[in-house]
Amino acid sequence: MNVLSRLRRARKALISAGAAVALAAGLQTGISTPSQAAASLPCDIYASGGTPCVAAHSTTRALYASYNGSLYQVRRSSDNTTRNIGVLSAGGYANAAAQDSFCSGTTCVITVIYDQSGRGNNLTQAPGGGAAGGPDNLAVATAAPTMIGGHKAYGVYVAPGTGYRNDHTSGIATGDQAQGMYAVFDGTHYNGGCCFDYGNAETSNNDTGNGHMEAIYFGNIKVWGYGAGNGPWIMADLENGLFSGVNQHYNAGDPTINHRYLTAIVKGEPNHWAIRGGNAQSGGVSTFYSGVRPNVSGYNPMHKEGAIILGIGGDNSKSSAGTFYEGVMTSGYPSDATESSVQAGIVAAGYSTSSGGGAGGSLTPGSSISLRATTSGYTDRYVRHFDDKAITSVINSSSSDLDKNDATWIVHSGLASGSCVSFESRNYPGDYLRHSNYELYRQHNDGSSLFASDATFCPQTGKSGQGTSLASYNYPDRFIRHYDNTVYVASNGGSHDFDSSSSWADDVSWVVSQPWV
Ligand code: AHR
Ligand code: AHR
Repeated sequence: MNVLSRLRRARKALISAGAAVALAAGLQTGISTPSQAAASLPCDIYASGGTPCVAAHSTTRALYASYNGSLYQVRRSSDNTTRNIGVLSAGGYANAAAQDSFCSGTTCVITVIYDQSGRGNNLTQAPGGGAAGGPDNLAVATAAPTMIGGHKAYGVYVAPGTGYRNDHTSGIATGDQAQGMYAVFDGTHYNGGCCFDYGNAETSNNDTGNGHMEAIYFGNIKVWGYGAGNGPWIMADLENGLFSGVNQHYNAGDPTINHRYLTAIVKGEPNHWAIRGGNAQSGGVSTFYSGVRPNVSGYNPMHKEGAIILGIGGDNSKSSAGTFYEGVMTSGYPSDATESSVQAGIVAAGYSTSSGGGAGGSLTPGSSISLRATTSGYTDRYVRHFDDKAITSVINSSSSDLDKNDATWIVHSGLASGSCVSFESRNYPGDYLRHSNYELYRQHNDGSSLFASDATFCPQTGKSGQGTSLASYNYPDRFIRHYDNTVYVASNGGSHDFDSSSSWADDVSWVVSQPWV
């Protein structure tokens, strides 16, 4: 393409993308003033910077102003059929309602994350590799609800064991070729397992040696490199090592960074690479490392192979956890200025947890609430503790003080994840609602990570379309459910009687109501 037509194309992209950003800003504020942002959608910006996207993945929005295709595919368990989820309009947000209706009354997993770049670099279920067998698990499609630009959408929730990959790509950097990458993650969802990555890896699913990967890593594993504070950190997975700076181990320049919505960047070119990051909801991105390649054999020159991974290490190590909303890989080394424009566009897109499916607003940490059943015939019953079990009881204004106290819960930011919630007993301070063997109990917080996970629930739109459903943090396809007036975390169909599909959607949908005391 000659310079003039490239400029024309870039200008056209900027104009139409500017309109999309203005639309997003208008939706966010409710005012339809023209946007101040000169930014456009990420891949339009990378293209105008001369470093085009060669892979573009997102379950929440289009990454090109002109993109009007499918973002991802879901498969439902009821009949194993699949459905592509597209955008609401060209260059727009995901059509989450299409997923909700297709998955209503059943559970869905994400089977494909489509590549928007036109190169066919789709991500699908990762096969086994040198470190762990496969195929890996697929993400539960409803496990990472979010709002974006005032619209509901879903991210890719990676529980340990989950992974996506493409070993047969087109246009991705190989050898010592330059590339850039950014991703938006949930900075509060991570762990110390290897390795929640997005980026360039081996085509063989095996560890083929130093320098055979160049991917963004996010989490708090300290086996290789780490940075300031307790983590999590953005690092580069360059194979046989996560790098927080020029060499492995401690690098003070790489800060602990845990914004709820996090922009993470890693890029590399001959004998030079960088780590950058920032808050995907506001401000810019900062540079945490920019300098030469590690001073260890194999990393200079690099030996990139050009496969793409998400949620796993290069050899399919899959003990890691995280949440992915969007990310791209480019051809060429993007300038810091290009990345600043991309970051401005991410901020303008408006990621937010508020009114997360109509649930978040009333589940504000610090507030006291009650949880009312919505199943016909049971709508006068509330979740309460009785001895140490959780059951439902009929509660009304003439109930005893004891019953009212037992049916009142204090909302906390989730003990295991700030994007979810935990429920503390009103009259037994320090006791929380937690599951054990899938049954719910009121128990004292023993400070263990198991307790924190068992006591954390992630709100989303009620499965019946009414109220709020509360997914178990560590069993995200199980939801708080009443069955025979006892409370469980239940899947929609399964081996226990309380997993019964009959009236499941109603039984897992709760109205968050006023506290009784
Ligand atoms: O570099 C860290 C990890 O080490 C890689 O992701 C994996 O391939 C190897 O186990
Ligand atoms: O929890 C009360 C009822 O018990 C539920 O609605 C039903 O699933 C079960 O029969």
